[in-house]
Amino acid sequence: MTTIAIIGAGPGLGAAVARRFGREGHSVALVARDAGRLDALAGSLAADGVTARGFTADVHDPATLVTALDAAADTLGPVEVLQYSPLPRQDFMRPVLDTTADDLTGPIEFSLYGAVTAVRQVVPGMRELGRGTVLFVNGGSAVVPHADRAGTSVAFAAQSAYGHLIHNTLAPEGIHVAQLIIPGMIEPGHQRKDPVVLAETLWGLHRERHGFRHFADDLGA
Ligand SMILES: NC(=O)c1ccc[n+]([C@@H]2O[C@H](COP(=O)([O-])OP(=O)(O)OC[C@H]3O[C@@H](n4cnc5c(N)ncnc54)[C@H](OP(=O)(O)O)[C@@H]3O)[C@@H](O)[C@H]2O)c1
Repeated sequence: MTTIAIIGAGPGLGAAVARRFGREGHSVALVARDAGRLDALAGSLAADGVTARGFTADVHDPATLVTALDAAADTLGPVEVLQYSPLPRQDFMRPVLDTTADDLTGPIEFSLYGAVTAVRQVVPGMRELGRGTVLFVNGGSAVVPHADRAGTSVAFAAQSAYGHLIHNTLAPEGIHVAQLIIPGMIEPGHQRKDPVVLAETLWGLHRERHGFRHFADDLGA
């Protein structure tokens, strides 16, 4: 069986996606910075019959991402699905006129350089498999930039452009690249934005394999 690697695997969306894809028989590589939290999440997935392991990496540090993704493929099997969904830091979301060029370094490293590093690490394995899926998850500011969230608005737009480019480039090889936009907040109990519902939506994007940009809810919702 193949592996889904979740970059930014936390208790919310990351855990729900791990459960959804794990239920289908995929092994799950949980990638984030805190080893203790990853081990706890892997343990709770194992209790539900999902094969999961934590691999520590910081998306600001490309070498750690490369090492984690290599170890995930070696330990769990080839990565067929990559989800890039680390939760951005609050201080990336400053008003535009308070945002300097230096302030954009962190958001760009986080949303663009980390994503490019992760994609480049898994695409050769997907080519060998003859199939693969890359899922990007973003907030609404990826589509409509928000003047109080300059860092994420600019960096999500950059990630969107990169994702769209690789969507077009990799489609002929059977590698599907899609982006899910979640307008507003992830909300437990919400009809469309509960983590379990969002995980189902992401599973659907992986299965149905059409189009790059998808919306979890109406923009402005
Ligand atoms: N939460 C929302 O309301 C909301 C709204 C719209 C869109 N989104 C999108 O949904 C996704 C996040 O879902 P979620 O909020 O439910 O989060 P989650 O899956 O519960 O957790 C995300 C994890 O990202 C990890 N992370 C943060 N910085 C990292 C870094 N530098 N390197 C590696 N991992 C890092 C954190 O773990 P460590 O601290 O262990 O690294 C955190 O637990 C993101 O794509 C976000 O853009 C969220």
